[in-house]
Amino acid sequence: MGFRSVVFLLIFLLYFVSGERKVQLGQSLLPTTPPTSWSSSSGLFAFGFYQQDNGFKVGIWLIPSKKVVWTAKRDDPPVTGNSTIELTREGKLVLRSEQGGEQLIANPSGSAASMLSSGNFVLYNETSEIIWQTFDHPTDTILGGQTLSTDMSLISSLLDTDHSTGRYRLTMQGDGNLVSYALNTEGTPADAYWASGIVRPNPCSLYLNSTGSLAIINNSNSYTLEILYNYSTSVFNTSKTLIYRATLDSDGIFNFYCHTFTRSDESSISVDWSRPKNPCEVKGFCGLNRFCTFDDDKPSCRCLPGTNLIDSNRISLGCGRNSSREGCRGGVENTTYFNIGTMEKMSWGDVPYYVDKPMSLEDCKKSCLEDCNCEAAQYVDSSCKKYSLPLKYVRRDLSASSSPTALFKVGTRSIKSDNGTVPMPWKSQPVVVKSKTALTKLVGGEEVDKNTLENMVKVALWCIQDEPHLRPSMKSVVLMLEGITDTDVSIPPCPTAASM
Ligand SMILES: *[C@@H]1O[C@H](CO)[C@@H](O)[C@H](O)[C@H]1NC(C)=O
Ligand SMILES: *[C@@H]1O[C@H](CO)[C@@H](O)[C@H](O)[C@H]1NC(C)=O
Ligand SMILES: *[C@@H]1O[C@H](CO)[C@@H](O)[C@H](O)[C@H]1NC(C)=O
Ligand SMILES: *[C@@H]1O[C@H](CO)[C@@H](O)[C@H](O)[C@H]1NC(C)=O
Ligand SMILES: *[C@@H]1O[C@H](CO)[C@@H](O)[C@H](O)[C@H]1NC(C)=O
Ligand SMILES: *[C@@H]1O[C@H](CO)[C@@H](O)[C@H](O)[C@H]1NC(C)=O
Ligand SMILES: *[C@@H]1O[C@H](CO)[C@@H](O)[C@H](O)[C@H]1NC(C)=O
Ligand SMILES: *[C@@H]1O[C@H](CO)[C@@H](O)[C@H](O)[C@H]1NC(C)=O
Ligand SMILES: *[C@@H]1O[C@H](CO)[C@@H](O)[C@H](O)[C@H]1NC(C)=O
Repeated sequence: MGFRSVVFLLIFLLYFVSGERKVQLGQSLLPTTPPTSWSSSSGLFAFGFYQQDNGFKVGIWLIPSKKVVWTAKRDDPPVTGNSTIELTREGKLVLRSEQGGEQLIANPSGSAASMLSSGNFVLYNETSEIIWQTFDHPTDTILGGQTLSTDMSLISSLLDTDHSTGRYRLTMQGDGNLVSYALNTEGTPADAYWASGIVRPNPCSLYLNSTGSLAIINNSNSYTLEILYNYSTSVFNTSKTLIYRATLDSDGIFNFYCHTFTRSDESSISVDWSRPKNPCEVKGFCGLNRFCTFDDDKPSCRCLPGTNLIDSNRISLGCGRNSSREGCRGGVENTTYFNIGTMEKMSWGDVPYYVDKPMSLEDCKKSCLEDCNCEAAQYVDSSCKKYSLPLKYVRRDLSASSSPTALFKVGTRSIKSDNGTVPMPWKSQPVVVKSKTALTKLVGGEEVDKNTLENMVKVALWCIQDEPHLRPSMKSVVLMLEGITDTDVSIPPCPTAASM
């Protein structure tokens, strides 16, 4: 053997002994022509282009099941088939696409990269130290060996097949509590639906260790403070490889998975632990005006009495009233058009706009029936709490021992005839001047009566609600304004300063 052959053999051996396939400067990937990805030496994880809809996203997935565990720039649209990923000669990891031009996937410039067997894709500097890693930028998943540091969040994906930002977050809070919230809420305790529960004086992290123990650890000394879940293997079996994964799934549930691989293939995926266990506890699971209940051990969502699905193709929009509200005069409802339905063991997350004096259940029904603003009520401990729609976080918990009686106002006249051909209010209903006072500053010299102005302000406040689905449709705005001289618009929740 010549010297050259010996060197080659040595390099060849080192390559396999080190077990790591480094990506060198100048290497690139394409979505459809191999190489389309860089894989780990275990052959279980790959970094590169994966298919979404008619295009491609850049991410990391488990090769056998194609389960995506990380996505770069998750909210950017998929790229076309003639895009490239390159670790450039200058050490920059870039995605080139028709839509986005040249985009950096990682901020620092490295001198090599590697898809590690843990599922971590890393960039190295000249002294082979890790200077950037996907483990520091989790999307909806942490893997064995990965940490969710203080103030970081996992954000659920929109769907199992679409990894853009979804509807929930799980945050490792600075107070040491790990908490799940409906996303796009203010993150108050009322918006939280699960918490590890223990508040601690020092900053903590969530850590999934490489043998499947999910724990909260002390940042300063890495001591385990609380084990949330232990994966227990009774027998150590060398013919099996286990990959652990904890994911905030698209339905808002935080799940612990174990993927088992035998030499030939991925033989099983098991869900070993879930929080919350009951999907009905996930706030916003059913959408507005829809309640969650258990049917044969499966969660099911149903519209509140008097409402129907707004759009059966987009059920997350929730339900809307399906009866006409005409007939209100001076704040008093024409009760011939409405009934009151009652339900037990219902709860929801809103605050009442009015709590009436102690009264009987029958008087509470009457009070809601006659009040134009009242669309639902709770009767509890002789008090009558009145609410306007929409209601959020509605749940029916049949196992609850006691609960308030819920009342729902159900209209009897169909809204179906209102098909968008309602005449515009400024044409059919000129604003009536009734008094000369509630107002010249606000309305710029035009004189309008107090009720009209009040209603217009309320409509305007409804239109600037933070949650887009609380904002009325243009059609409802027209309806609200049309009825402006004789119908009271319900009082909107307070918008936050940010939306003003
Ligand atoms: C990339 O592909 C799109 C359609 O897939 C095509 O319209 C475009 O011309 C291609 N661009 C290049 C630079 O090949
Ligand atoms: C590589 O990164 C490590 C850690 O950040 C740093 O200490 C070291 O100086 C870097 N080496 C070079 C050559 O930049
Ligand atoms: C993972 O955590 C468990 C429980 O704390 C511990 O027994 C085990 O040794 C840890 N595994 C590793 C590789 O650190
Ligand atoms: C975390 O570690 C620090 C430093 O060792 C220690 O002072 C502190 O008490 C620990 N916190 C908890 C909650 O164990
Ligand atoms: C997890 O495993 C460790 C080590 O085996 C053990 O000390 C601990 O009690 C276990 N915790 C739970 C919650 O099962
Ligand atoms: C190890 O796993 C293989 C494949 O699942 C199985 O056939 C074998 O019986 C296992 N061995 C032990 C000791 O459990
Ligand atoms: C309620 O509506 C009915 C039918 O339109 C009408 O006859 C009745 O006068 C109305 N009642 C009130 C109090 O407005
Ligand atoms: C509203 O929808 C419910 C359930 O689909 C239906 O029973 C009821 O008749 C509808 N009401 C009106 C006024 O259309
Ligand atoms: C909407 O309703 C009006 C009155 O009920 C009717 O004349 C019109 O044809 C309807 N338009 C459509 C598009 O259905």
